[in-house]
Amino acid sequence: MSRDVHVIDHPLVQHKLTLMRRKDTSTKSFRELVQELSALLAYEITRDMPMQEIDIETPLEKMKSRVIDGKKVVLASILRAGNGFLDGMLQVIPGARVGHIGLYRDPATLQAVEYYFKMPHDMHERDVIVLDPMLATGNSAVSAVDRIKKTGPRSIRFVCLVTCPEGLKTFHDAHPDVPVYTPAVDRGLNDHGYIVPGLGDAGDRIFGTK
Ligand code: URA
Repeated sequence: MSRDVHVIDHPLVQHKLTLMRRKDTSTKSFRELVQELSALLAYEITRDMPMQEIDIETPLEKMKSRVIDGKKVVLASILRAGNGFLDGMLQVIPGARVGHIGLYRDPATLQAVEYYFKMPHDMHERDVIVLDPMLATGNSAVSAVDRIKKTGPRSIRFVCLVTCPEGLKTFHDAHPDVPVYTPAVDRGLNDHGYIVPGLGDAGDRIFGTK
């Protein structure tokens, strides 16, 4: 199995991520940046999405032309920080459906505990993009994908802003078939399960709750 990691090295993506990492970046700027960055990530992630030919008519003549079926894409947000990706991704894939997974991290064990799960119906026809800004210990990502796999989707890919070798290993040990798309693979985890150097708590920075 492939354990694919796609590091998105586009200059615009790297520039915006650098601004987001800075501790003096305001909540307003952080939120704007995550929106801009998620639109750019959506562009990269959908690069090889299946397409279909449809018949259309230009002002001059009939032709066959290709479209992606946005309604078949599901953006699956891991609450709450995953929601930060939604506005930007929906600008680029406006027909996408949106699912939510609520998981909290038990502070003692660092294990993920599920409290909410809602996805569209007919998941077997759909391509799922799982959203979580920080692939850190990998525990919540593994649980989220375990749960999504039970719905039988056509494909799953995982997108984050920052990850680290430990998170990638845990994730791909459990789900080697799910590619990870990320702008950065950082040095590692600290004793509290935070990515270093990272960007801090993504949820707090998006929602201004620190
Ligand atoms: N969650 C975050 O928001 N940041 C980290 O560094 C790790 C987990």
